Parts: sequence; structure tokens; C-alpha cells
Amino acid sequence: MKINLLSGMAVMLLLTSSVAVAEEPKTAVAEMTPLGGSTVKGKVSFRPVAGSVEVEVDLSGITSGPRGFHIHEKGDCSAPDGSSAGGHFNPGGKAHGSPRDTERHAGDLGNLQVDKDGNAKFRFIDPQLKLSGADSIVGRSVIVHEKADDLKTQPTGDAGGRVACGVIK
Ligand code: CU
Ligand code: ZN
Repeated sequence: MKINLLSGMAVMLLLTSSVAVAEEPKTAVAEMTPLGGSTVKGKVSFRPVAGSVEVEVDLSGITSGPRGFHIHEKGDCSAPDGSSAGGHFNPGGKAHGSPRDTERHAGDLGNLQVDKDGNAKFRFIDPQLKLSGADSIVGRSVIVHEKADDLKTQPTGDAGGRVACGVIK
């Protein structure tokens, strides 16, 4: 009886620790703050779904029209113009492209869909983003640009200045 009780407790401990491992990687969020004179703010959330990452955008204060947004390599939003975030996150050493291309920077998320009130609220699944491991986006940053990403000009998509930045945590 005593042995059964002890082995039952051991099984429970094993189950508890395997559940904790299965929860990795966790959700990550970038709280977006305006750069310069912009009013763009909100958050961009990331969560793992079946080998990909779902991105949920909830932003306001954007001038209407498509606006480029990317993951940039450094988690540093300290510069007033956002330049401290560095270039597009590109662990694969690839060319700039569309999120639908296989040849793209991992950080190339294309354009925000902005409504007439300047809000961007939508979600999508990205097959290249990772929330753990060497190529994780955690600790990097999300940048919103003043212009549309043309999805082809190298290496930036000609998306212009940076109007909001948030470190992915
Ligand atoms: Cu960018
Ligand atoms: Zn790019």
C-alpha cells in the first residue's frame, strides 16, 4: 500500500513536468509605441499553431493605406527614428520579399491592412516565424513603416521611415 502510494506520486510528478515541457514555446507580445511624431500604437501578438506562428495585429493611429511592417533584428526601440532596431530579421541570409515567398527575410510580414479609421486589426498564420531556438523572434522588434512595402525593392521594400516600434517579449 505504501509502495503504491509512492509510485503513484512519482507518476504524478512525471506528468506534471512533461506538461510544463509541452507548453514551450509560449506566446510573445510586442507593445508598440509611436516613433517621432507618429500616433501609431497598440500591440502585435504571436502564438504557436501547428508548426507555424499566428500573428495577431491590433494597432491604431495609422494613416490609411497599406503600411509595411516587419520584424527587425535588434530588440532596441531607443532611437527616436527607430534605427536602433537594425535591419530586417534575416537569419537565413535571403533577399527581401513577400511573406508568401520562400525567398524572403524571416521578418518580412508584408503590409498592414488598415481600415478607413486608421486601425489595423487582423490575424494571419506565418510559416517562417519561430518562437524558440536559434532563429527565435523573441527579443527582436516589430516595426511599422510610413509607406507600403513594395515586396521587391532590396533590402527594405522601400517602405520609408519607421513610425512605431515594439520589442517582442
Ligand atoms: Cu521594417
Ligand atoms: Zn525584408
